[in-house]
Amino acid sequence: MSNDNIQAVLGESRIFPPAAEFVAKSRVDAKKMAELRAAAEKDHVGFWASLARQELSWNKPFTVTLDDSKAPNYAWFTDGRINVSYNCIDRHLEKRGDKLAIRFESEPGVVTTLTFKQLHGEVCRLANVLKSLGIRKGDRVVIYLPMSPSAVIAMQACARIGAIHSVVFGGFSAQSVRDRVEDAGARLVITADGAHRAGHVVELKKAVDEALNEGCKTIEKVLVYKHAGNQIAWKDGRDLWWQDLTAKAAAECEPEWVEAEHPLFLLYTSGSTGKPKGVQHSSAGYLLGAHQTTQWLFDVREDDVFWCTADVGWITGHSYVCYGPLSNGTTIVMYEGGPMTPDAGRFWKICQDHGVTIFYTAPTAIRALMKMGEKFPLSYDLSKLRLLGSVGEPINPEAWIWYHHVIGKDKLPIVDTWWQTETGSVMISPLPGATPLKPGSCTQPIPGIFADIVDESGELIPGLDQGGYLVITKPWPSMLRTIWGDNERYIKAYWGQFGNKYYVAGDSAHRDKDGYYWILGRTDDVLKVAGHRLGTMEVESALVAHPRVAEAAVVGRPHEIKGEAIVAFVILKGQRPTGAEAEELIKELKNFVAKSMGPIAKPDDIRLADNLPKTRSGKIMRRLLRSIAKGEEITQDVSTLENPAIVAQLAGKE
Ligand code: WTA
Repeated sequence: MSNDNIQAVLGESRIFPPAAEFVAKSRVDAKKMAELRAAAEKDHVGFWASLARQELSWNKPFTVTLDDSKAPNYAWFTDGRINVSYNCIDRHLEKRGDKLAIRFESEPGVVTTLTFKQLHGEVCRLANVLKSLGIRKGDRVVIYLPMSPSAVIAMQACARIGAIHSVVFGGFSAQSVRDRVEDAGARLVITADGAHRAGHVVELKKAVDEALNEGCKTIEKVLVYKHAGNQIAWKDGRDLWWQDLTAKAAAECEPEWVEAEHPLFLLYTSGSTGKPKGVQHSSAGYLLGAHQTTQWLFDVREDDVFWCTADVGWITGHSYVCYGPLSNGTTIVMYEGGPMTPDAGRFWKICQDHGVTIFYTAPTAIRALMKMGEKFPLSYDLSKLRLLGSVGEPINPEAWIWYHHVIGKDKLPIVDTWWQTETGSVMISPLPGATPLKPGSCTQPIPGIFADIVDESGELIPGLDQGGYLVITKPWPSMLRTIWGDNERYIKAYWGQFGNKYYVAGDSAHRDKDGYYWILGRTDDVLKVAGHRLGTMEVESALVAHPRVAEAAVVGRPHEIKGEAIVAFVILKGQRPTGAEAEELIKELKNFVAKSMGPIAKPDDIRLADNLPKTRSGKIMRRLLRSIAKGEEITQDVSTLENPAIVAQLAGKE
């Protein structure tokens, strides 16, 4: 774990108790939180069972809460039957039919809204179209859409008929679409002509065409939503317009009642190998996690307008755009485009124009907007905001204080929520009406979640003011169920490190003297670049696919705004160029990675070298590369290196 992080953390001592005004109206105050905690401590399984009964609508109630007979493949609420789309939409129709479910603003500024009743109609129509295309329960559908209501409608329509969706982030490349289609054996792709992003049109359909031109043999049809109006190629017999088909479809579609454990979706995420893994989530357990945390952490009330800025391509967009808020009958805001379009006031203008009351975003966005100065937020009326949130990476105290002061006017609570694609919903976070806040700490595990820290050998580290590997010691309803098609990898990646005793998060954490957790970063080869998770191996594989690259090693370097930046050390086949020729090649390699993985994976820095620092057993010394990438003086022992002279070359001193 990084020393800088520990120093920053230990230096932070400010505490912000929840404001009395907020506490008075909040769903959970300190007393209620203590009661919830005590109930969960006493009977963790019973605790989740009673919430599942109280909060979710079941077609067939469950009698078995937790089946641990195949641990660590845990199953929850196994004999119950449920439908997630029914829970997010139908059950609100009577009381909230005319309430807005979605307020959408496109990047060019067009606002569209959908009431729960309208959303129901759209979801049913699309569900009927999917059925007419032969999509059945258990079939996989890849969704590659702009951040817009069509994405939520598509996800909900899949859930309605029991099809398993796999959303691919619109910023990912054709190659990513192809990999995900092939790994999941998807039958259908739902896409759009294009999406607006930072003043440009991202050609989604074109990327799908490219993906399908080579491989993806399981795909039968491509359903295309007309969105940006850009020109697209068309393959008769394969491509179909969403709007044409839904116009003719019935606006009622009986939900398919599925087993609680039926997979709701796959979401591919990076691990420490070259290939992203399909994290598989369940229906009931997942929904309970998303639903309950939306209620506890975001304190949602009937008149709230909830804006989570995450794209639906990420887990945050699944749990806190599509599922958690809708399951609570909450109005959500969706925004298609970039935070700087046309200027750094866009987020604040949206908060003002849509009357946003709860705002949830990533530290990268906060830092980028902070850099643009107070002028932007101060130009808009943010008085409706009552709660702020942060997710995806550690938030540094400086950004936290800015968020609190400038956006929160020194009074709004900030929920710094720690969780992962695999955990399905937030695990460690303040409850805004109950938990005193410390800038930079995600505070404590929420009721029903049992986190701890262990040492190198997997022994629990008792007591306070200690650091170690972050683990979760008891199963929880929204945990991932497996890795699609590779259960062995599931067990190895998340449980194997410490003898299958704990879920191993892959993060290191410090637990301070008050029992607050401070996340210090990943312990594996995963980077967090602008909140996006990328495996160093993935970037390395992308680089070595270039004909001139023989070998590559990728590490992260701290970055003021993005949290981490990508630095790649590249060994070429043949002669290493210098001067302008080297610069040209570096540019080409950067673009090559961006093309194969998507622009977020584009390395910030590529260094060409004759070799990599390796131990005599051939292991690349990444720790050393990280120091070199940071420009640090090398104080580490390099005597075990096979080729110590290479250090000077990599550091640019030769
Ligand atoms: C990091 C995102 C510090 C962490 C929801 C985790 C955080 C990884 C926080 C998961 C936070 C997420 N403070 N670090 N509040 N939230 N992380 O799967 O390293 O994209 O393991 O899920 O993000 O990333 P993922």
